[in-house]
Amino acid sequence: MTKKGARHSLGTTDAVEYAAQVEAAAAAAAAGAAAAAEASGARTTSSLGSGDWLAGAGTTGEPEQVHVALTGFPHALRVMWVTFGGAGAGAEAAWGTAPGVLAATARANASTYDVGILGGWHGTIHTVDMVFPSHLPPRTTVYYAVSGTCPTACWSPVFSVALPAAIGMETATTLALWGDMGTVIPDGWRVAADVAAAARRADGAWNAMHIVGDLAYAGMGAHDAWQPIWDMFGRQMQDAAVQVPLMVSVGNHEEYYDFEAYVKRFSAPGAVLTPGANRHFWYSYEVGNIHVTSMSTEHPYLPGTPQYAWLAADLKAVDRRRTPWLVLVSHRPFLASDAFEHTAHIPGAPLVDSVGRLAAAAGVDLVVSGHCHVYERTLPTLPSGAVTSHGAANGTVFHAPGAPIWIVAGTGGAIYPDSWVVPIPPWSAVRIHKLGDDIVYGYGVVSTNATALEWTLHRAAHSSYPGGPSHILDRFTLIR
Ligand SMILES: [Fe+2]
Repeated sequence: MTKKGARHSLGTTDAVEYAAQVEAAAAAAAAGAAAAAEASGARTTSSLGSGDWLAGAGTTGEPEQVHVALTGFPHALRVMWVTFGGAGAGAEAAWGTAPGVLAATARANASTYDVGILGGWHGTIHTVDMVFPSHLPPRTTVYYAVSGTCPTACWSPVFSVALPAAIGMETATTLALWGDMGTVIPDGWRVAADVAAAARRADGAWNAMHIVGDLAYAGMGAHDAWQPIWDMFGRQMQDAAVQVPLMVSVGNHEEYYDFEAYVKRFSAPGAVLTPGANRHFWYSYEVGNIHVTSMSTEHPYLPGTPQYAWLAADLKAVDRRRTPWLVLVSHRPFLASDAFEHTAHIPGAPLVDSVGRLAAAAGVDLVVSGHCHVYERTLPTLPSGAVTSHGAANGTVFHAPGAPIWIVAGTGGAIYPDSWVVPIPPWSAVRIHKLGDDIVYGYGVVSTNATALEWTLHRAAHSSYPGGPSHILDRFTLIR
């Protein structure tokens, strides 16, 4: 546990000193965050506008950290938010099909937790499953708002989001994925702003986004976490996550206090596709024509464990005529040539030799992981390390290659002094850590139709390099 927790340790075990460091870094980033929000055209969504994610906890019960998630049901979306203090009535959500007519309302389920250094945590997490009329077509734009616990009514602005897509082969689908984000260490806030702007430019085309573990980096040292970091993360993500459902996988930096903050603050689909799923740690969902299986590399996964049995059943049960594309998500990578923990992600290592073999046998198309704060993607490769196809068009187009492409997209904004092993393994196709002196941060996007899947890596906007938002650094296409 200590070793895992120390992986991205922030350089001090003194929590007070750490808190001061975070505050200083946050102050330095604040002007930039406000400028980025301004430049991206982000609307101010509430009293916690895009530039206000560094704000401390309030005391009056205003709603903040709003995000939506898929539920597994076609006409339901889960909305979650946080309040601090306030003496008023319980929070509620209101929703409808026109911004001015939010006729459906429900009182929120409230929960909380109190772990962490420097005073624990004293907010309230609110959850409502918004159920829309079943006659609405898939992808209908719907509207919602949430209220806080203020002495007098206090509501968020009205947000809009699209209902889930129809599940089926013909549904073109867009899913954004990345891992290892954080807030001000140093660029998670910038990636979040870029993701929000990209989702807005896509104008409803993004079906979901999925962070593949190591979300907020609230942890410090091996055993302690400072919960206000989670609040900063929640505010940072709001602008993106009110407009596109946010799904999550668990990373080693969620483990503090038995994963308490991760479990309480986020949702995984309530309707599991196969029995034995563990909602927050191993679960699956369908989005359009993609089946996403999310595993936990922070829990036992070898043959004989409950997770392995569930993964085997889930992957085997996928109906490829319904969801032709199969994506496996994990935090720790299966195959990568990052020097960090190198022997854990090479052929023969436990993860690739167990779940990796399951994935390849099940015909998984893509495996998307993080943990290494770099970008790397392989050629279609069997768990043995054998490359099955070098592809056409300089290795960017693969026709039914018969093996997964393994991706590390730990580029969400957290820093670590990564380096590459040499020589480059024959299965490694593209690896990116720095361009010039700049570390590359960004996110991946999967776009599918019935017969093709395109993956693109988008570099987040950064003032020190040209190219602007959504500068694409890697791209490949799988053809069925
Ligand atoms: Fe990690």
